[in-house]
Amino acid sequence: MSSLFRTRLAKGFDDRTARFHTSVVEDLRMFEYDIDGTMAHDIMLHEQGIMEKEDLVKILGALQEIKEEWQAGKLQIGAENEDIHEYIETKVIEKIGIEVGGKMHAGRSRNDQVMVDMKMVSKVELQEIAVNVLNLVKTLGEIADKHTETPMVYYTHGQQAQIGTFGHYLCAYTDQYLRDYQRIKQCYDRVNYNPLGSAAIAGTNFRVNRLRTSELLGFDYIAENSMDATSSRDWAMEIASVLSILMANMSRMATDLVMWAGKEYQYVTISDEYSSSSSIMPQKINPSTLELVRGKTAEVYGTLQELMTMVKGLPTGYYQDLQQTKIALWRAFDTTKTATEILNGAVSTMTINEDKMLDQTKGSFIYAVQLAEVLAEETLSFREAYKVTAGVVANLVEDGRTLEDLTAEDVQKVAKELFGKDINVSSGIADKVSNPIKALNNLRSPGSPHPAETAMAVENRMELRERYWKELDFLKIKLVIAADNLKNAIAKYTA
Ligand code: ARG
Repeated sequence: MSSLFRTRLAKGFDDRTARFHTSVVEDLRMFEYDIDGTMAHDIMLHEQGIMEKEDLVKILGALQEIKEEWQAGKLQIGAENEDIHEYIETKVIEKIGIEVGGKMHAGRSRNDQVMVDMKMVSKVELQEIAVNVLNLVKTLGEIADKHTETPMVYYTHGQQAQIGTFGHYLCAYTDQYLRDYQRIKQCYDRVNYNPLGSAAIAGTNFRVNRLRTSELLGFDYIAENSMDATSSRDWAMEIASVLSILMANMSRMATDLVMWAGKEYQYVTISDEYSSSSSIMPQKINPSTLELVRGKTAEVYGTLQELMTMVKGLPTGYYQDLQQTKIALWRAFDTTKTATEILNGAVSTMTINEDKMLDQTKGSFIYAVQLAEVLAEETLSFREAYKVTAGVVANLVEDGRTLEDLTAEDVQKVAKELFGKDINVSSGIADKVSNPIKALNNLRSPGSPHPAETAMAVENRMELRERYWKELDFLKIKLVIAADNLKNAIAKYTA
C-alpha cells in the first residue's frame, strides 16, 4: 500500500487494520471544506512569502480539479487512505508531483486541519438547525394566535389541575424553542474560533497569518492557544448538549400530541402523511412519526454520552480517539435536523378539535383553585378558603353534582361547619367557577392563560423570533462573504 506518511515504517497495515483505522467514510462530509481549507492555507502561505506564486497556481489548479472530480462523482476513496486529508494530498502530488504538491501541507498538521473542517461543517449544520427551530416557533405562534380562547384542561400528576387554553400551551413551547435557539446561537459563537495555524500541537516555524485564513474561511476569531486549538473537543460536547436539550423539549411535546391523538382525548388528528397503520389492526392510525421524534431523542443523548466518554480520560494533545468524534457529531446533526422538520410538519398539518378540548372541561373541578381564591378575596384566609372549597368539592362529588350546579348555600354551609363563619357568597358563583371563558378572563397573573395575556405573548414572541431570524441571516451572510473572499482570492491565481 502506498502511503504518504508511512516512510518511517517498514510494514503497511493489512486490509483489516486499514479498515479499522481509516476515517474516510465519516470524512466525506468534510471533503469540499477540506479543499477550501487547504486553498485558504496555501493562499495565505503565498501572501506571507512562504510559497512561490507558480507553486500556488499549480496547487490551486490541482485542488480545483479534485473538487470538480468529486462533484462529478468520479472519485473512489478507499480504506487504503487514512483519511481524506491523506487522499487529497496524495491526489495533488499525483497531479503535479511531489516537488510542488509536497509544499501544500507546510505549516499545518492534520490535527488543526481536521478541527477546522469539523468546525466549518458544524457551523453550517447549526445554522440549518437554528432555521428549523425558528420555523417551528413560527408554526406554533400562528396556531397559538388562533387558540387564545380555546379552553382545555391542564394536568399535573396526570390529574386535572386548572383551566388553560391550547394557545397558551403552544406558547409554553415557543418559549422553550426560543431558548433552544439562544443556546444554539451561543454555542455557534464558541465554535466560531479558527484552529488553523496551530499545526500538530505547538505551532510552526512558518510565519503563518491566522487572521487571514480566518477571514477566508469565515471565522470570527482564532482559537489562540495551539494546544487547546488542536486537542479540545468541548465545543463538540456542547453541540451535542444543546441538541440533546432541544430534542428533550421536542420529545415532550411529541408525547402530548401522541396522547391527544388517542380516542380518549381526540384533541388533535395527526394528518395521514405523518401517520402509519398496523399490519393486523385495520382501524389503526398511529402517530408514529411523533413517537419517533421521541425515540430518536435517545439517539441524540447517545451522541452526547459518546463524546463525553471519548474525551474524558484523554491526556492533553491529539489522540486518534478524537477521530471518532465526527461520527457522533454527524449523527447528532442529522437526527436533530430531521426531527425538527418532522415535528414542524406534523404540527402544521394536524387538525385541532377544539370541541373535544372543551368537552373535557365540562363537569371538571379544574376551577377549584379559582373558587378558593374568590372566597379568599372576602373574609377567609387562603387556607380557610382552600379547606372550604375542598369540603364543597367532596360534597358535590358525593351528590353526583358538579361546579356548574354550585349554589351560594353549598359554600356557606361548609364555611359555617368548618370555621363557624357566616360568609357572603354571590349568587353568580357557579358561573364564575364553571364557565371556562369567564374563568380564563378572571386570571390576573402575568403569563397566565388569560386570552389577552396569551395574545400579547404571541405577538411578543413573534417579534423576538423575527429578531433572531435576522441575526441568523447575518451569520449566513458572513459565510457567504467569506466564501466570496476565498473565491476572489483563488480567482487571482487561477484566472
Ligand atoms: N483522521 C484524523 C481525524 O479524523 C485526523 C488525522 C490525525 N492523525 C494524526 N496522526 N495526527 O481525527
